[in-house]
Amino acid sequence: MATIPAVRTRADTGAIAFSVNGRSVVVSSPPSQRLSRVLREDLGLTGTKVGCDAGDCGACTVLVDGDPVCACLVAAGQVAGREITTVEGLGQSQIGARLQQSFLTHGAAQCGACTPGMLVAATALLEQNQTPSESQVMDAIGGVLCRCTGYRKIVTAILSGQSDALAEIHPEAGNAVGQRVVRLDGKRKVDGSEIFGADEVPMGALAVRAIRSPYHRAQFHFGDLDEFVSAHPGIDAVLTAKDVPGKDCYGVIPPFADQPVFAHTEARYRGEAVAAIVGAPEIVEALDPATFPVVWQELPALMDIDEALAPGAPQIHAHREENVLVRGRVVRGDVDRALADAEITAEGEYETGFVEHAYIEPEAGFARRVGDGIEIQACTQSPYMDRSDIATILGIAPEKVRIIPTAVGGGFGSKLDLSVQPFLALAAWHLDKPVRMVYSRTESIISTTKRHPARMRLRAGCTREGKLVALDFAADFNTGAYSSWGPTVSARVPVHASGPYYVPHYRALTQAIHTNLVPAGAFRGFGVPQAAIAQEQLYDDLADRVGMDRLEFRILNALDDNTPTVTGQVMGEGVGIRACFEALKPKWQAARKQAAAFNSNAVGPFRRGVGVAGMWYGCGNTSLSNPSTVQIGLQRNGRIALHQGAVDIGQGSNTIVTQICADALGAPIARFDLISGDTAVTPDCGKTSASRQTFVTGKAAYMAGAQLRNSIIALVKACECARILFEDSHITIEENGNRRKFTLADLPLDQHGYVITAEATFDPPTKPLDKDGQGTPYAVFGFGAHMAEIEVDTELGTVRVLKVTAAHDVGRAINPTLVEGQIEGGVAQGLGMALMEEFFPGKGENLHDYLIPTAGDIPPVESILIEDPSPIGPFGAKGIGEQAVIPTAPAILNALHDAVGIRLRKIPATPDRVRAAILASQQGDRRG
Ligand code: FES
Ligand code: FES
Repeated sequence: MATIPAVRTRADTGAIAFSVNGRSVVVSSPPSQRLSRVLREDLGLTGTKVGCDAGDCGACTVLVDGDPVCACLVAAGQVAGREITTVEGLGQSQIGARLQQSFLTHGAAQCGACTPGMLVAATALLEQNQTPSESQVMDAIGGVLCRCTGYRKIVTAILSGQSDALAEIHPEAGNAVGQRVVRLDGKRKVDGSEIFGADEVPMGALAVRAIRSPYHRAQFHFGDLDEFVSAHPGIDAVLTAKDVPGKDCYGVIPPFADQPVFAHTEARYRGEAVAAIVGAPEIVEALDPATFPVVWQELPALMDIDEALAPGAPQIHAHREENVLVRGRVVRGDVDRALADAEITAEGEYETGFVEHAYIEPEAGFARRVGDGIEIQACTQSPYMDRSDIATILGIAPEKVRIIPTAVGGGFGSKLDLSVQPFLALAAWHLDKPVRMVYSRTESIISTTKRHPARMRLRAGCTREGKLVALDFAADFNTGAYSSWGPTVSARVPVHASGPYYVPHYRALTQAIHTNLVPAGAFRGFGVPQAAIAQEQLYDDLADRVGMDRLEFRILNALDDNTPTVTGQVMGEGVGIRACFEALKPKWQAARKQAAAFNSNAVGPFRRGVGVAGMWYGCGNTSLSNPSTVQIGLQRNGRIALHQGAVDIGQGSNTIVTQICADALGAPIARFDLISGDTAVTPDCGKTSASRQTFVTGKAAYMAGAQLRNSIIALVKACECARILFEDSHITIEENGNRRKFTLADLPLDQHGYVITAEATFDPPTKPLDKDGQGTPYAVFGFGAHMAEIEVDTELGTVRVLKVTAAHDVGRAINPTLVEGQIEGGVAQGLGMALMEEFFPGKGENLHDYLIPTAGDIPPVESILIEDPSPIGPFGAKGIGEQAVIPTAPAILNALHDAVGIRLRKIPATPDRVRAAILASQQGDRRG
């Protein structure tokens, strides 16, 4: 590490006077400074979010003299003498305050990163027009991106924002489960006070900035780093691989860990860090990275699966032959023979590309050294995994690392992997000063994980009556330069590639292949959405060949409680897939009729189609232990402290886990103090992924709640039927018509500082898979089916989704509003995957070129909640987070085939591909 004492400089500044939220302020700032920066850094108004600094996301929307503008595109000098309104000031007006409340009660805020911008944009509309139409609302928020909600609840909240607000529900003790309780962290999300990764910074924190490879593959060497530091007053240090005191190798799955904090001599992908500059924020930010002394030698890169598998291709990791990271396999029965004997067969080949998570909050956080330990506050989905990797990197005990998760402005899997954390840890460790790092949008896109591109080949067979007999599935996944979650995708997909159907003869083989591209990792579904695109289209083809209704084909083949899955698991109960399909049936028949009537009368270029697809998804890790531990304590003030380490990334676990625990204990949720996700004060609840928090942490919370109730009953020697009333400073026991009151201050405290503490751990019962992938990979599955109605412009190749109907078996809807929010958000991401989203490393590394759905792209979504209880989940609940995204894309693609008769081999179905396929099919028709 090269260091010299820091020297501070200051850019030219001027005094700029304006008004913010009715308060006069004067800031000393360069007139060209972004207004967003001035609001956040100089005035501490961090409710205004920065998602791109380029006018693409709208997260920074504020009002300037009542007009909505992107504060990142407005220079501070331009607002002199003007009135600025930020989210923090919205509550001052009746319109703004009602809108905030409406967002809360309608569940319009999930992670909350877009919420300030949405609220501000909507306020501007409602100030002009208090009874807008839906399309006026869509227009008003059209420039503000949301990656979580699917927009529908936002639109509803705005449309009803000025009528009498929906009343908040405050359920009585024992009655929280199943209620549309307003999310417990919701108020902070609508008033702008929520703390995300970039929203807090210790006084005097230095900035950390990574130097990253501009090439997909390159060797490099540094010039004189000491001289560089000396020549740049304000730069405190440059960190490289030499500054990693522990083991320079991390990864989310320890046996496959392969990623260094800094590349050593060769960068394996464009965006890989080779060094980090640490120093005064204004100096570090102003530095031209081109002046950094590094010499690159670009090398030939492996840019796709074929290049990586070609004989003689360079090996990206010396110990992984043929660039194969790992293979997955599930085999049951005799698939070759069954296919040879099958009366009807169909085959297909499908390809999907990288998909960017595009959460609105780029990665950010700060760190400080505390004696011989380190504290990192950052956005993350997996605090305990971060703790373990940082301890390895620093060469210290995990107990010396404290991870404090901030609110997470969307994660969807990518924030399971380390991002800013190792750089922050190393800088704070070596300099013993607080340090902060905030990724730019481009840095976030080029360096963090993506959905795995997949190339899938499959063949299926059935009887003349439509009974599936066999499926042969093979997939190669492009896992990029490092392992990340490649092993999980390779293991999970073979278990799921059958879809939720009985397939007696089955073979699914997968492999994850390294290339010189950005690592592919976890993204909502761990490869299952890609597999569903293939299998659900193939099943449509099979149904067509049988001459059978496509929904009836699925109903005929749907799994039930007693049929074995492709791993031989018989669930016994809680298999709700047939109920999902049955729920769609009347809507399917009506929609098919409507589309047929539309098409038979069509004279212009528009054609309509209807598609359906099914889904299943195992909750939690595949055949691996993944326990959660929850601790609760009764306090002397009569309140209950709930220590749960599940990170709420917008999906609502803070609320759902509390609802479950409250009912198990028999206390109202208003009595709970929630202590979340800090490795120093909460037990390990594992990572927020794989739809496991409602199921696994929820079950641990259920057990802890029940245990605390039992302990209280035992303490006061009451009967099991007794009712416990939790009141200020005392509890009252009601039994047999008698009431006994116990003052809590009279009772001793335990070692945790509580009157009574209960702690429970739940680890889903799974069994390892054998060499053919047979066994019990998951204790609980969620099921679902989507129906998409679309309209295709056959001249332009554009596809408009008119409606999605989504039926999901969630076991028990702990909070229906939050469940619907997951479904609607999943539909939006599935729509993006089907029609527009594909990331090409090295191109379009911003939210201007990488398109995600906007409010105007999302159709009405009708959610149908099926509750076929899981015998294991808390109150019967199953997961929903990953499940919701899986069937949307194949349902849309099946609708596309229904409308215009084309099957695209490469997804997404962008207008150029759709148009080309329509032309090809027309030419084929003419030739034919
Ligand atoms: S931060 Fe201003 S538009 Fe994205
Ligand atoms: S709630 Fe809109 S981005 Fe998360």
